[in-house]
Amino acid sequence: MTRQTETEKKRYYEPAPQDIDTENFRKVIQSRRSVRKFTDRAIPEHVLNECLDLALLAPNSSNLQPWTFYVVKTPEKKKQLVKACLGQLAAKTAAELIVCVARTDRIDEMASRNISEFPFPEAPATVKKYYRFIPYNYKTGYLNTLGNFKKVAFKIARTMDKQLPVTAFNPADAKLWASKTTALACENFVLSLRAYGFDSCMMEGFDEPLVRKLLKLNDQQYPVMVIGAGERAEDGVFFPQYRFDRSLFIQKV
Ligand SMILES: Cc1cc2nc3c(=O)[nH]c(=O)nc-3n(C[C@H](O)[C@H](O)[C@H](O)COP(=O)(O)O)c2cc1C
Repeated sequence: MTRQTETEKKRYYEPAPQDIDTENFRKVIQSRRSVRKFTDRAIPEHVLNECLDLALLAPNSSNLQPWTFYVVKTPEKKKQLVKACLGQLAAKTAAELIVCVARTDRIDEMASRNISEFPFPEAPATVKKYYRFIPYNYKTGYLNTLGNFKKVAFKIARTMDKQLPVTAFNPADAKLWASKTTALACENFVLSLRAYGFDSCMMEGFDEPLVRKLLKLNDQQYPVMVIGAGERAEDGVFFPQYRFDRSLFIQKV
Protein backbone atom coordinates (compact mmCIF):
# COMPACT_ATOMS: atom_id res chain seq x y z
CA MET A 1 0.00 0.00 0.00
CA THR A 2 1.41 3.38 -0.97
CA ARG A 3 1.63 6.21 1.53
CA GLN A 4 -0.99 8.10 -0.41
CA THR A 5 -3.60 5.31 -0.27
CA GLU A 6 -2.84 4.76 3.42
CA THR A 7 -3.76 8.31 4.19
CA GLU A 8 -6.58 8.52 1.62
CA LYS A 9 -9.96 9.19 3.11
CA LYS A 10 -12.21 6.13 3.02
CA ARG A 11 -15.18 7.07 0.88
CA TYR A 12 -18.57 5.49 0.48
CA TYR A 13 -18.96 3.83 -2.90
CA GLU A 14 -22.25 2.98 -4.56
CA PRO A 15 -22.03 1.51 -8.07
CA ALA A 16 -24.27 2.92 -10.82
CA PRO A 17 -26.04 -0.04 -12.48
CA GLN A 18 -25.41 -0.12 -16.21
CA ASP A 19 -27.95 -2.80 -17.14
CA ILE A 20 -31.02 -0.54 -17.17
CA ASP A 21 -33.51 -1.23 -19.94
CA THR A 22 -33.60 2.18 -21.57
CA GLU A 23 -36.33 1.21 -24.01
CA ASN A 24 -38.70 0.33 -21.18
CA PHE A 25 -37.70 3.43 -19.28
CA ARG A 26 -38.61 5.53 -22.32
CA LYS A 27 -41.85 3.59 -22.67
CA VAL A 28 -42.83 4.46 -19.09
CA ILE A 29 -42.19 8.16 -19.66
CA GLN A 30 -43.71 8.32 -23.12
CA SER A 31 -46.85 6.36 -22.27
CA ARG A 32 -47.64 8.44 -19.19
CA ARG A 33 -50.59 10.57 -20.09
CA SER A 34 -53.03 12.60 -18.09
CA VAL A 35 -55.91 10.16 -17.86
CA ARG A 36 -59.30 11.71 -17.27
CA LYS A 37 -61.35 8.52 -17.11
CA PHE A 38 -60.52 5.34 -15.23
CA THR A 39 -62.08 1.86 -15.16
CA ASP A 40 -63.52 0.32 -12.00
CA ARG A 41 -60.41 -1.80 -11.44
CA ALA A 42 -58.77 -1.28 -8.09
CA ILE A 43 -55.05 -0.70 -7.71
CA PRO A 44 -53.69 -3.61 -5.63
CA GLU A 45 -52.60 -2.41 -2.21
CA HIS A 46 -49.01 -3.61 -2.70
CA VAL A 47 -48.73 -1.75 -6.04
CA LEU A 48 -50.00 1.48 -4.54
CA ASN A 49 -47.63 1.12 -1.61
CA GLU A 50 -44.68 0.39 -3.89
CA CYS A 51 -45.49 3.47 -5.99
CA LEU A 52 -45.73 5.62 -2.86
CA ASP A 53 -42.42 4.24 -1.62
CA LEU A 54 -40.83 5.07 -4.99
CA ALA A 55 -42.30 8.58 -4.75
CA LEU A 56 -40.49 9.02 -1.44
CA LEU A 57 -37.18 8.27 -3.16
CA ALA A 58 -37.40 11.50 -5.16
CA PRO A 59 -34.53 13.93 -4.79
CA ASN A 60 -35.46 16.54 -2.23
CA SER A 61 -33.92 19.67 -0.85
CA SER A 62 -31.31 18.88 1.83
CA ASN A 63 -33.04 15.52 2.33
CA LEU A 64 -35.59 17.35 4.49
CA GLN A 65 -38.47 15.45 2.85
CA PRO A 66 -41.04 18.25 3.28
CA TRP A 67 -44.08 16.35 2.12
CA THR A 68 -47.06 14.23 3.12
CA PHE A 69 -49.15 12.11 0.77
CA TYR A 70 -52.71 11.61 1.95
CA VAL A 71 -54.31 8.54 0.42
CA VAL A 72 -57.97 9.34 0.83
CA LYS A 73 -59.80 6.11 1.62
CA THR A 74 -63.00 6.92 3.48
CA PRO A 75 -65.95 7.04 1.02
CA GLU A 76 -67.33 10.19 2.63
CA LYS A 77 -63.96 11.96 2.47
CA LYS A 78 -63.51 10.76 -1.13
CA LYS A 79 -66.87 12.24 -2.05
CA GLN A 80 -65.88 15.53 -0.51
CA LEU A 81 -62.56 15.46 -2.32
CA VAL A 82 -64.22 14.83 -5.70
CA LYS A 83 -66.37 17.86 -4.98
CA ALA A 84 -63.25 19.84 -4.05
CA CYS A 85 -61.71 18.72 -7.36
CA LEU A 86 -64.56 20.57 -9.07
CA GLY A 87 -66.23 17.25 -9.88
CA GLN A 88 -63.59 16.47 -12.53
CA LEU A 89 -64.07 13.09 -14.21
CA ALA A 90 -60.45 12.25 -13.43
CA ALA A 91 -61.29 12.53 -9.74
CA LYS A 92 -64.76 11.02 -9.92
CA THR A 93 -63.62 7.83 -11.68
CA ALA A 94 -60.24 7.43 -9.95
CA ALA A 95 -59.69 4.26 -7.95
CA GLU A 96 -57.44 6.24 -5.61
CA LEU A 97 -57.16 9.91 -4.80
CA ILE A 98 -53.94 11.17 -3.30
CA VAL A 99 -53.51 14.67 -1.97
CA CYS A 100 -49.87 15.73 -2.19
CA VAL A 101 -49.01 18.24 0.50
CA ALA A 102 -45.84 20.29 0.75
CA ARG A 103 -45.00 21.37 4.25
CA THR A 104 -42.73 23.80 6.01
CA ASP A 105 -43.79 22.86 9.54
CA ARG A 106 -41.45 19.90 10.04
CA ILE A 107 -38.11 21.40 9.02
CA ASP A 108 -36.59 21.09 12.51
CA GLU A 109 -37.88 17.56 12.97
CA MET A 110 -36.54 16.42 9.60
CA ALA A 111 -33.19 18.09 10.23
CA SER A 112 -32.90 16.21 13.56
CA ARG A 113 -33.84 12.96 11.88
CA ASN A 114 -31.08 13.48 9.34
CA ILE A 115 -28.67 13.37 12.27
CA SER A 116 -30.28 10.64 14.36
CA GLU A 117 -31.11 8.37 11.41
CA PHE A 118 -27.95 8.91 9.39
CA PRO A 119 -27.11 5.53 7.81
CA PHE A 120 -23.58 5.21 9.20
CA PRO A 121 -23.28 4.29 12.87
CA GLU A 122 -23.01 7.99 13.61
CA ALA A 123 -23.51 11.11 11.54
CA PRO A 124 -20.15 12.71 10.67
CA ALA A 125 -19.42 16.06 12.31
CA THR A 126 -19.93 17.90 8.98
CA VAL A 127 -23.40 16.36 8.63
CA LYS A 128 -24.32 17.34 12.20
CA LYS A 129 -23.11 20.87 11.58
CA TYR A 130 -25.02 21.09 8.29
CA TYR A 131 -28.31 19.99 9.83
CA ARG A 132 -27.95 22.35 12.76
CA PHE A 133 -27.59 25.22 10.30
CA ILE A 134 -29.88 24.30 7.42
CA PRO A 135 -33.28 24.82 9.14
CA TYR A 136 -32.45 28.53 9.36
CA ASN A 137 -32.05 28.61 5.60
CA TYR A 138 -35.64 27.54 4.97
CA LYS A 139 -37.47 28.86 8.02
CA THR A 140 -38.71 32.44 8.16
CA GLY A 141 -39.54 32.74 11.86
CA TYR A 142 -42.37 34.27 13.82
CA LEU A 143 -43.73 37.34 12.01
CA ASN A 144 -41.04 36.75 9.37
CA THR A 145 -38.31 38.01 11.72
CA LEU A 146 -35.77 35.46 10.51
CA GLY A 147 -36.76 36.06 6.88
CA ASN A 148 -36.27 39.83 7.26
CA PHE A 149 -32.97 39.33 9.06
CA LYS A 150 -31.75 37.11 6.21
CA LYS A 151 -32.87 39.67 3.63
CA VAL A 152 -30.59 42.29 5.19
CA ALA A 153 -27.74 39.88 5.91
CA PHE A 154 -27.78 38.52 2.34
CA LYS A 155 -27.82 42.03 0.88
CA ILE A 156 -24.76 42.98 2.91
CA ALA A 157 -22.98 39.69 2.14
CA ARG A 158 -23.55 40.18 -1.60
CA THR A 159 -21.83 43.56 -1.51
CA MET A 160 -18.79 41.57 -0.37
CA ASP A 161 -18.96 39.24 -3.38
CA LYS A 162 -20.25 36.33 -1.26
CA GLN A 163 -22.09 33.55 -3.09
CA LEU A 164 -25.22 32.50 -1.27
CA PRO A 165 -27.65 29.63 -1.68
CA VAL A 166 -31.37 29.78 -2.41
CA THR A 167 -33.05 30.64 0.87
CA ALA A 168 -36.50 31.56 2.18
CA PHE A 169 -36.96 35.27 2.86
CA ASN A 170 -40.70 34.94 3.42
CA PRO A 171 -43.38 32.23 3.73
CA ALA A 172 -43.99 32.33 -0.05
CA ASP A 173 -40.34 31.40 -0.65
CA ALA A 174 -40.63 28.60 1.91
CA LYS A 175 -43.80 27.34 0.23
CA LEU A 176 -42.04 27.35 -3.14
CA TRP A 177 -39.09 25.49 -1.61
CA ALA A 178 -41.31 22.70 -0.27
CA SER A 179 -43.56 22.59 -3.33
CA LYS A 180 -40.63 22.25 -5.73
CA THR A 181 -39.45 19.15 -3.97
CA THR A 182 -42.94 17.71 -3.47
CA ALA A 183 -43.67 17.97 -7.20
CA LEU A 184 -40.62 15.78 -7.87
CA ALA A 185 -42.07 13.07 -5.66
CA CYS A 186 -45.39 13.43 -7.50
CA GLU A 187 -43.64 12.76 -10.78
CA ASN A 188 -41.89 9.71 -9.32
CA PHE A 189 -45.29 8.51 -8.17
CA VAL A 190 -47.07 8.83 -11.53
CA LEU A 191 -44.18 7.24 -13.42
CA SER A 192 -44.14 4.37 -10.95
CA LEU A 193 -47.87 3.83 -11.48
CA ARG A 194 -47.25 3.73 -15.24
CA ALA A 195 -44.47 1.18 -14.77
CA TYR A 196 -46.98 -1.02 -12.93
CA GLY A 197 -49.56 -0.63 -15.72
CA PHE A 198 -51.69 2.00 -14.00
CA ASP A 199 -52.35 5.63 -14.82
CA SER A 200 -52.94 8.99 -13.24
CA CYS A 201 -54.01 12.56 -13.58
CA MET A 202 -52.30 15.34 -11.67
CA MET A 203 -54.84 17.97 -10.69
CA GLU A 204 -54.45 21.46 -9.41
CA GLY A 205 -58.00 22.19 -10.42
CA PHE A 206 -59.21 21.96 -6.83
CA ASP A 207 -60.73 24.25 -4.27
CA GLU A 208 -57.87 24.79 -1.84
CA PRO A 209 -59.88 25.88 1.22
CA LEU A 210 -62.12 22.82 0.83
CA VAL A 211 -59.12 20.48 0.63
CA ARG A 212 -57.52 22.22 3.61
CA LYS A 213 -60.70 21.77 5.62
CA LEU A 214 -61.09 18.14 4.61
CA LEU A 215 -57.58 17.22 5.72
CA LYS A 216 -57.39 19.71 8.57
CA LEU A 217 -54.20 21.23 7.15
CA ASN A 218 -52.42 23.96 9.05
CA ASP A 219 -51.17 27.11 7.35
CA GLN A 220 -47.72 25.64 6.80
CA GLN A 221 -49.10 22.68 4.88
CA TYR A 222 -49.79 23.36 1.21
CA PRO A 223 -51.80 21.04 -1.00
CA VAL A 224 -49.72 21.08 -4.19
CA MET A 225 -51.85 18.75 -6.26
CA VAL A 226 -54.38 15.95 -6.08
CA ILE A 227 -53.48 12.85 -8.05
CA GLY A 228 -56.22 10.61 -9.39
CA ALA A 229 -54.97 7.10 -10.07
CA GLY A 230 -56.36 3.93 -11.54
CA GLU A 231 -56.58 1.86 -14.68
CA ARG A 232 -56.89 3.86 -17.90
CA ALA A 233 -60.32 3.53 -19.50
CA GLU A 234 -60.29 2.91 -23.27
CA ASP A 235 -61.51 6.45 -23.80
CA GLY A 236 -59.51 7.81 -20.85
CA VAL A 237 -57.07 9.90 -22.88
CA PHE A 238 -58.80 12.66 -24.74
CA PHE A 239 -56.21 13.62 -27.38
CA PRO A 240 -52.67 12.78 -28.52
CA GLN A 241 -49.76 14.16 -26.57
CA TYR A 242 -48.09 17.18 -28.10
CA ARG A 243 -45.29 19.52 -27.10
CA PHE A 244 -43.96 22.64 -28.81
CA ASP A 245 -40.67 22.74 -30.65
CA ARG A 246 -37.77 21.93 -28.34
CA SER A 247 -35.91 25.05 -29.48
CA LEU A 248 -38.44 27.04 -27.46
CA PHE A 249 -37.35 25.34 -24.26
CA ILE A 250 -33.76 24.22 -24.53
CA GLN A 251 -30.98 26.70 -24.78
CA LYS A 252 -27.31 25.91 -24.84
CA VAL A 253 -25.50 28.90 -23.44
C1 LIG B 1 -49.49 20.66 -11.68
C2 LIG B 1 -50.46 20.12 -12.69
C3 LIG B 1 -51.80 20.35 -12.54
C4 LIG B 1 -52.73 19.82 -13.43
N1 LIG B 1 -54.07 19.99 -13.19
C5 LIG B 1 -54.95 19.34 -13.99
C6 LIG B 1 -56.32 19.36 -13.67
O1 LIG B 1 -56.77 19.94 -12.69
N2 LIG B 1 -57.16 18.70 -14.48
C7 LIG B 1 -56.73 18.02 -15.59
O2 LIG B 1 -57.56 17.42 -16.28
N3 LIG B 1 -55.42 17.97 -15.89
C8 LIG B 1 -54.53 18.61 -15.14
N4 LIG B 1 -53.19 18.54 -15.41
C9 LIG B 1 -52.74 17.78 -16.56
C10 LIG B 1 -52.20 18.68 -17.68
O3 LIG B 1 -53.28 19.32 -18.32
C11 LIG B 1 -51.41 17.78 -18.65
O4 LIG B 1 -50.29 17.28 -17.97
C12 LIG B 1 -50.96 18.51 -19.91
O5 LIG B 1 -52.03 18.96 -20.66
C13 LIG B 1 -50.09 17.61 -20.77
O6 LIG B 1 -50.72 16.38 -21.09
P1 LIG B 1 -50.09 14.97 -20.70
O7 LIG B 1 -49.97 14.94 -19.21
O8 LIG B 1 -51.06 13.93 -21.18
O9 LIG B 1 -48.76 14.88 -21.36
C14 LIG B 1 -52.27 19.06 -14.54
C15 LIG B 1 -50.89 18.84 -14.68
C16 LIG B 1 -50.01 19.35 -13.77
C17 LIG B 1 -48.55 19.03 -13.92
